[in-house]
Amino acid sequence: MAQIKLNNGLMMPLQGYGVFQIPDQQQCERAVLDALATGYRLIDTAAAYGNEGAVGRAIQRSNVDRADLFISSKVWIQDAGYDQTLASFNRTLANLQTDYLDLYLIHMPYGDYQGSWRAMEDLYAAGKIKAIGVCNFEADRLLDLILSNHVVPAVDQMETHPFTQQKALRSVLQQYGIKLMAWAPFAEGQRGLFTQPVLKAIGDQYGKTPAQVTLRWLLQNDIVAIPKSVHADRMAQNFAINDFTLSPADMVQIATLDTEQPVILQIRALPEVFRLHGMTITQ
Ligand SMILES: NC(=O)c1ccc[n+]([C@@H]2O[C@H](COP(=O)([O-])OP(=O)(O)OC[C@H]3O[C@@H](n4cnc5c(N)ncnc54)[C@H](OP(=O)(O)O)[C@@H]3O)[C@@H](O)[C@H]2O)c1
Repeated sequence: MAQIKLNNGLMMPLQGYGVFQIPDQQQCERAVLDALATGYRLIDTAAAYGNEGAVGRAIQRSNVDRADLFISSKVWIQDAGYDQTLASFNRTLANLQTDYLDLYLIHMPYGDYQGSWRAMEDLYAAGKIKAIGVCNFEADRLLDLILSNHVVPAVDQMETHPFTQQKALRSVLQQYGIKLMAWAPFAEGQRGLFTQPVLKAIGDQYGKTPAQVTLRWLLQNDIVAIPKSVHADRMAQNFAINDFTLSPADMVQIATLDTEQPVILQIRALPEVFRLHGMTITQ
């Protein structure tokens, strides 16, 4: 499987699997087992998803070596701050039944995320995390974080799909050697992505679906993608993107689908700030 090198030298798979919105523990455990059997080695979870324990049980049940896995998780807003982040991280490790994380991310750019970052820098220095990064940080907050601290984030996980291509952010990320990780690579199916005519016409040339064209487009842009599905047949479809190449003309056509606006999360919208701050989790 193709990998990319992070700014600290760590290799990260470009194809991953995400477990957001799988609250049923048994279903999540089954889905992660299916994803590992499909060939996925990067599993993306979060304290806020309420299923780290199920991910941990699936990893225990699978016969995949821990060293071959790349596990990422995230600290939620209520645990922002130095001490809270250390405590949340320890709960994450216990839930996942592991003694280190490959990637640990600040989930939202709210609360005392500077304190969280300092805790993560210390955990990174102690070897408990192989790389640290952020989610949902737009360029200004990212730059503020970089200028206030020592370790430059390795990853920014952002809503990224054909309708929200993050072109402006990508040029800032490139300057700092930060890799983009696409959440909701299918826009969670919104705007008809799975039947979108441009993606469908491109896919028809190669015998591929709009979902596969989308994931291939991300791969060819060196963007890590973590599609979610609870269906093994869709996982297999989403994984099978290494036997075709999009042409430069295809890439240009997909570029025209960009709306330069998020479809799912308006991170700066005041109702979203209230909503997300109000979301409490049990871990
Ligand atoms: N950092 C953040 O703030 C953040 C936010 C959101 C998500 N994420 C991460 O990103 C991951 C992916 O994002 P997401 O789960 O929100 O959305 P997504 O991957 O864009 O879309 C998932 C949806 O697509 C369906 N689907 C998957 N493959 C398909 C296929 N080949 N054909 C048709 N339908 C298909 C799934 O249905 P079925 O499951 O029924 O197959 C599900 O409804 C998450 O799981 C999570 O790890 C991070």
